Amino acid sequence: MIEQLIELEKTALKELDAVKDPSELEKLRISYLGKKGILTSLMRKVGTLPQEQRADAGRVSNLVKSNLSRRIKEVIEGIESLKPDQSAFIDVTLPGRKPLRGHLHPITLVIQEVCQIFIKMGFKIVKGPNVELDYYNFEALNLPKDHPARDMQDTFYVSDNVVLRTHTSPIQVRTMESQRPPVSIIAPGKVYRRDSDVSHTPMFHQVEGLLVDKQVSLGDLKGTLTSFVHQMFGSDTRIRFRPSFFPFTEPSAEVDIQCVICGGKGCRTCSQSGWLEILGSGMVDPEVYRFVDYDPELYSGFAFGMGIERIAMLKYGIDDIQLFFKNDMRFLKQF
Ligand code: PHE
Repeated sequence: MIEQLIELEKTALKELDAVKDPSELEKLRISYLGKKGILTSLMRKVGTLPQEQRADAGRVSNLVKSNLSRRIKEVIEGIESLKPDQSAFIDVTLPGRKPLRGHLHPITLVIQEVCQIFIKMGFKIVKGPNVELDYYNFEALNLPKDHPARDMQDTFYVSDNVVLRTHTSPIQVRTMESQRPPVSIIAPGKVYRRDSDVSHTPMFHQVEGLLVDKQVSLGDLKGTLTSFVHQMFGSDTRIRFRPSFFPFTEPSAEVDIQCVICGGKGCRTCSQSGWLEILGSGMVDPEVYRFVDYDPELYSGFAFGMGIERIAMLKYGIDDIQLFFKNDMRFLKQF
């Protein structure tokens, strides 16, 4: 029995050395170690041997079995190491991957579209500082230090007299301070407020508009903004002017458009009202002219300010403002 086992091991090892592929190896493994394999059958006979031979035959057969198993494992590893390295394999016949082309951010696109509409009407683009004096952001807009309307905007203070601008309206004051009427400007830019949820981010964008001349009336404001809405959202978009309050305009109005989601029937987006607010506006308050040395008897004008993210959300049907600032390519590449 022991000689038989040793002979079997020799042949098996020789055959294993000659094996070239995994299926051949598997066959060999089964023929020796499988349920009906040669070694398995031999090992079964150990029990039938006379008492004095049994222990030795058992030990030798276990040794042969573990030697063969180990050798089989080594051969598998050897075959695998010969496989070509997949990562280094280049299929030169595959078509190339196109790199993603950069393009303008949706917010930039909407700012450009809004500005373009007003440029066609004769407005000029101006800019102002993001870090602004309290004086321009509040004081000269008829919002004195203790004015309750300051609570409408949660302000980031840089120091006692310096803020991150909470709206683009300070640009109205800076513009009037530096030029005499007629004035017709639009001012796009970033603004900052301490606010953050699905419809608010601490930084967002506004476009401010200001027109001052002799005999400018509320009719001019309504005509200009109606024309803007029709160009921006389509000529059959309904619009309404709703009385409101801003310390720097009198009278003041907020402009609503018919809900772009439900068409005015009432839905979640418009809180069942059928209308969506898109901007604030009004006739420049004579009090503001006092700060810039314009004669309120001679001049009148209108101003408006709109949130760009809000307009972009309505135009493209986006329900989360945070998406604009996450830089997720799956979102951005749709524009
Ligand atoms: N600045 C106002 C705001 O941020 C909007 C506005 C601008 C209102 C100009 C009237 C005139 O809410």
